[in-house]
Parts: sequence; structure tokens; C-alpha cells
Amino acid sequence: MEHNQTEASGAIPGAGANPSSATLNQDIGQGRGVFISTYGCQMNVNDTERMYSLLEMANFTPVQTAEEASVIIINACSIREKPVHKVYSEVGTYRKMKEKNPDLRIGVGGCVGQQEKENLIKKQPMIDFVFGTDTIDNLPNLVAQVYENDKARVVNAKVEHRAPYHVETLVRNPGVSTFVNIAKGCDNFCSFCIVPFTRGREKSRPLSHVLMDVRTLVKRGVKEVTLLGQNVNSYHSECGADFADLLQKVAQETGIERVRYTTSHPKDFNQKLVDVMYANQPKVCEYIHLPFQSGNSRILERMNRGYTREQYLEKIQMIKKAIPNVVLSTDIIVGFPGETEEEFQDTITMVQEVGFETIFAFKYSPRPFTKAAKFEDQVPEDVKTERLNRLFDIHDIMAFDLVKRYEGLTLQVLVEKADSVEGKITGRTPENKLVHFLGSADLIGQTVPVKITKAFPAVLRGELVQ
Ligand code: SAH
Ligand code: SF4
Ligand code: F3S
Repeated sequence: MEHNQTEASGAIPGAGANPSSATLNQDIGQGRGVFISTYGCQMNVNDTERMYSLLEMANFTPVQTAEEASVIIINACSIREKPVHKVYSEVGTYRKMKEKNPDLRIGVGGCVGQQEKENLIKKQPMIDFVFGTDTIDNLPNLVAQVYENDKARVVNAKVEHRAPYHVETLVRNPGVSTFVNIAKGCDNFCSFCIVPFTRGREKSRPLSHVLMDVRTLVKRGVKEVTLLGQNVNSYHSECGADFADLLQKVAQETGIERVRYTTSHPKDFNQKLVDVMYANQPKVCEYIHLPFQSGNSRILERMNRGYTREQYLEKIQMIKKAIPNVVLSTDIIVGFPGETEEEFQDTITMVQEVGFETIFAFKYSPRPFTKAAKFEDQVPEDVKTERLNRLFDIHDIMAFDLVKRYEGLTLQVLVEKADSVEGKITGRTPENKLVHFLGSADLIGQTVPVKITKAFPAVLRGELVQ
């Protein structure tokens, strides 16, 4: 069933507004603040920046709190558990503000906007407009239209499945480290995942555009970029370049100091990419996020992941052989339909065998449109909870041991920001570890040697080597 092909673009019947016909009236933004509440992955964080930038160009003023805003946008995520309820409950908190301020307009975007479209407005009339993940660039028009047509309720969530993907990076204050989108959408259809339905088919940006973006960011003082895609390994440019080619060019032809990327898919992770990483160290950071989801091959097959436990472990061997100091993290789903206790044990042994320093583990959550939601052997909630807690307990002990190796080492830390505590600063190592240490805010943007004095699973403490 190709639910992902459904499109909605237009106004709620009777409200009399058509988003595509709006021409932007710059006066509409004048004196109006905009606040965006963001959930979800780096894609959404990046999209929020894009929304702020576009609305700022249309004369709206980004503000820090919902109370200061005339336009409130919820950029929502639908990857797990009751996302629509979260939206309604947040909208509910704005009820009093809306009663007091007739100028206030509330919008919902992101993957929930894409998924629910006009249903959101039908169920919660306090929502004035809804837009999807492919219509962000039309947001200023959409908002203008909401103001021009009093009481209009507007929906614009059309999906451009095969359109060329041309989006220059828009960030207001990129700081030291920022994201650069290289691809959108996903064609993998893992049986648990809603992303192919909310972000559409996979589309890669032209290689030259990505390089231009990174060069521009370097000129603006950015030291580190994270190349972003749902499955960066299947990036393919119109000119024939694959992800390894792109990574090499970003590292060698843009003047950037550090490059990261996320997320990798094990089935597409190959020797060429490992070789490019190795050849470009330390510029390309020796950190890889490689979600395995389940350590059991039967479950992996039901998940439609395209690899077995053994094949995943072979990829890990390939990586460790080339880059012995590599640091690995992963995503895991526990309690996928049909998962037995023995099969869950395979997930635990996988975590132990690979030695992941960080894991992101989640209880399986049935999602609309997905295959696995229809599987009949759903695992009871209490079993999922118990497995998740057990996994975290085992990993916590392991992670404490693993990070001990950092104590006494001197690591190269790219300083990102000053802490709230006076005199303290925070940066990141190539291994993606956050480090807190004493130092001047003047060091922000510089890479400095820091001797690690104490290591915790999530953060390291250290001293600046003078
Ligand atoms: N593109 C990335 C993941 C994007 S979603 C990849 O393929 O690895 C981020 C993570 O959310 C996934 O890796 C998975 O672990 C988790 N996730 C996705 N759908 C889920 C669901 N229905 N229930 C629980 N966790 C889910
Ligand atoms: Fe979802 Fe799978 Fe695509 Fe990742 S690769 S976004 S988990 S469908
Ligand atoms: Fe969520 Fe959409 Fe990202 S569902 S995880 S915001 S791609």
C-alpha cells in the first residue's frame, strides 16, 4: 500500500484559502515574532533553522519563547509513541495565550504535519496551519496567507517524490559546528519505520551544492560540519559521485577542519568509505554511528534491514581493522514483534561483542503505514520495558569500563561553547565525546589539547594542556 504517495495541498473546505496562489506580502512579518518548538532528529533541528531563516527573510522576528511570539510552530517528530497526542497537548498549553491574543497563529510541521495533514486541524481547531517536510520553502507564503485570510485554516503537505533536491544550507548563527543536509528521505522501508512515509523517497543534493555550502560555512567561521541524511551511504550525486567521493571532497576541497556524518546504514557501508575515512584522518572523525537495531538475524529479516548478524559483525571487523581507534555507537529496537527472550539475548551479546560506547535504545512502537504494525505477534508493553531496562543496565556498566581508557590521555578538543559556570568551557573530541574543562571563552572555535582527568559514559572532564 503506497500511503507515501498520498498528497494533500490546499485549504480545509470552507475556509477558502489556496496556499499556492499566495504572493508574499512582506508587511505581514513586520512586528510579529515567531517561535518554533522542535522535536525529533537532526533533520528537524536543521529544518527549524531553515524555517527561522526563511521567516526572518520575510520580516518575521525569531524569538526565544512562545509568550513573545505571534506565530508558534510545532516542528513535530513521529518516529515513536503518540506523537499526535504530544502535539495536541502542546497546543493545549497555548490556549490561554490564544484567548488573550487574537493575532496568535499556531502551525504544525515536520513529520507529524506530513503524516496527519488536515486531520490535525479537524481534531484541534486551535491549529491554524499545517505543512509537511517538502513544503518548508513555502512557509512564509503559507503564514502570510493565514493572516490575509482571517480564520483561514491552511494545509500544504504535498510530497515531491522525485523532484531534484535543491536546498542550500540556511542557518542564522552556525557557530563552531553545524549540519549540512546531503540527502532527504529514505527508500529502505525498514518494516518498523515511518520515515519513508513522512520524508518521501530518497533524493540526493548535487555534489557541487554541498561543497559550495561547506565553503560558505567555512567563511562564516564554521570548523566542523556533520553531513546529514537518513542513509548517507546511499548518497548518489547526479555526476555519479557516491558518499565516499563526497566525503573525500568535503575533507580535501573546502577548508573545513572536521567532518562527521550520520546516519550510516550497515548494508551500504563499504570498504571504499572506510578507506576514505582512514586516508582523511584526523579531519574525518574516527566516530561512526552504525545502527544495528537487533542482534538476531531472524528479527533483522522481519525488520527488512538487508543484513544478518554475521554480516553486521563483518562490517565492524572491516572498520576496526582499518581504523583501530574507531569509536562506535548504535541504535537498537527492543521488543520488535515476535522477538523472543533468546532473540533479545542476541542483541545483548551484540552490544558486548562490538563494545559500543554509546547506545540509543528504544521500545518498539507501532507506526501507521508500516508493515510491522500489522504483525500479529506484538510483544507486551511490560516485556518491552523490562528488556529495555535490562539492556541499559548492562550497557551502563560496560560503558563505564570502556571510557576509563580515556583517563590520562591527551585529546584534541574543538571548543564549542562557554558553560553556564564562569570559566568553564565545553568542546568535543574526534571520538564525539563532550569534554568540560577550565578555559577562556576566547578558545571557542579552536582545537586545543586537553588531558582527560575523569571519564564518565556521557562526558569527560579534563585540563587544558598549556
Ligand atoms: N535512518 C536511520 C534511523 C532513523 S530513525 C537508520 O536507518 O538507522 C532513528 C532510530 O529510531 C532508528 O534507528 C530506530 O532505532 C528508531 N526507530 C525507528 N522507528 C521506530 C519504531 N517504530 N519504534 C521504535 N524505534 C524506532
Ligand atoms: Fe527508517 Fe530504515 Fe530508512 Fe532508517 S533506513 S530511515 S530506519 S526506513
Ligand atoms: Fe522524527 Fe521525522 Fe526525524 S519522524 S526522527 S523528525 S525524520
